[in-house]
Amino acid sequence: MIKERPSDNFKTAITDPPYFSGCKTLLRKIIYSPFKVRIILGGRRSGKTSLLRAVEWNFLDFDLDRPIRAFPVFISLQVERPKGLDNLRYLLVARLREAIGRWRKVPGSGLREMYRQFLSQIKGGEVTVSFLQQLNIKLNITNPDYERQLNHDDFRQALLATIEELHEMGFEGICFLLDEAEFIVNQTWSNDAWGYIRGIKDTDTALKPFLGFVFSGYRALKEYHQKVGSPLVDIAEVSWLSPLSDFEISELISYRFKDEKVPSLPDRGINFICEWAGCHPYLTQQMLNRIFDFYIENKNLPSAKTLIDDLLEGHDHDFLRWWNFDQKTGEAEEDGRLSNEERNIYLKLVECRQSTDKNLAQMLNLSRQKVSDTLEVLLGTGVIQHDKNIKEYKVGARLFEEWIARQK
Ligand SMILES: Nc1ncnc2c1ncn2[C@@H]1O[C@H](COP(=O)(O)OP(=O)(O)O)[C@@H](O)[C@H]1O
Ligand SMILES: [Mg+2]
Repeated sequence: MIKERPSDNFKTAITDPPYFSGCKTLLRKIIYSPFKVRIILGGRRSGKTSLLRAVEWNFLDFDLDRPIRAFPVFISLQVERPKGLDNLRYLLVARLREAIGRWRKVPGSGLREMYRQFLSQIKGGEVTVSFLQQLNIKLNITNPDYERQLNHDDFRQALLATIEELHEMGFEGICFLLDEAEFIVNQTWSNDAWGYIRGIKDTDTALKPFLGFVFSGYRALKEYHQKVGSPLVDIAEVSWLSPLSDFEISELISYRFKDEKVPSLPDRGINFICEWAGCHPYLTQQMLNRIFDFYIENKNLPSAKTLIDDLLEGHDHDFLRWWNFDQKTGEAEEDGRLSNEERNIYLKLVECRQSTDKNLAQMLNLSRQKVSDTLEVLLGTGVIQHDKNIKEYKVGARLFEEWIARQK
């Protein structure tokens, strides 16, 4: 019998704190200065949603001492699909009010239990309506959420009143965690939305010290900002995710072995996982699942060959999407697939195993800037790794490399 594990067998975002590992520097940055505009970029399953969730539970955990505490509001734009700027403003206020309602009901004890209950409560949409009515803000309440709208003045008034209330609850302000921001990029009103947020952060002296935004996305978000010269990117801090370190992955491995009550691995077993999963958090979790499932059935660990063959088959679909194998045009990496140029640079790195951006640029006759931008995307996709001490890039997950080799 194969075991049921959290986060849909570690395929969807981590929402149980002990299973989250790494990203410490980025987490710290967000937690220590939450009232900024940030854009977090990373490939499919590189851990963007998990990171936003980790920000959320870190702010909600009152056992942790924090110099500044922002009230986190997680919103998946892909799920909410706002219809325009007025509707986005409504959704921001509604999800904020609902989160406050849920927060008031969670028990004071223990992070894991508190956060589990915080996430599991049904959100009551009516809390927003009655709150807005108290402020004399008129709303067409017969409309469903996705048609409700707030203009700028009403939005501002609702936020200011809520911030005052949050101060009494021990929070300094609000940090909106806007996952899958690519949704907005594809809308006709996206420039209005970015310009609007920029306007608040630039000039609204009453709101701006108490309001932060973290957007997550992949290349479409970055390329959009570059193309149209979006006003937002000028004031945003952009960070790329990358594979975790060997140390962070070892911590995760040992936690999961204990959790599954499987005898721990010798160092060479841990090194094997780091090498084949390339410290990619999703590939590592899936590899561990396979090892544990095999152990449960057979009472011993799988051979390397069995494990690798099994994983290559299991990840065929993921890798196909990353590699963009079928796409002949090599342009418009819609959906976050690698472009021709990115694939060429990756293959060059496979050939030389380890190199600097400068050497790669020389070998491929490309500009150094172009190569270092591309390496950033490959890192963010999680298929290469960066040794910061010697400033060299190296091939990441051997699983992915092996999968490409088998396509020929
Ligand atoms: N920091 C992390 N620690 C442990 N596992 C992670 C981490 N980030 C991602 N994962 C693993 O990768 C999977 C996908 O993560 P997710 O946050 O949904 O990625 P994304 O939002 O970028 O698609 C998770 O189910 C989890 O197994
Ligand atoms: Mg996600």
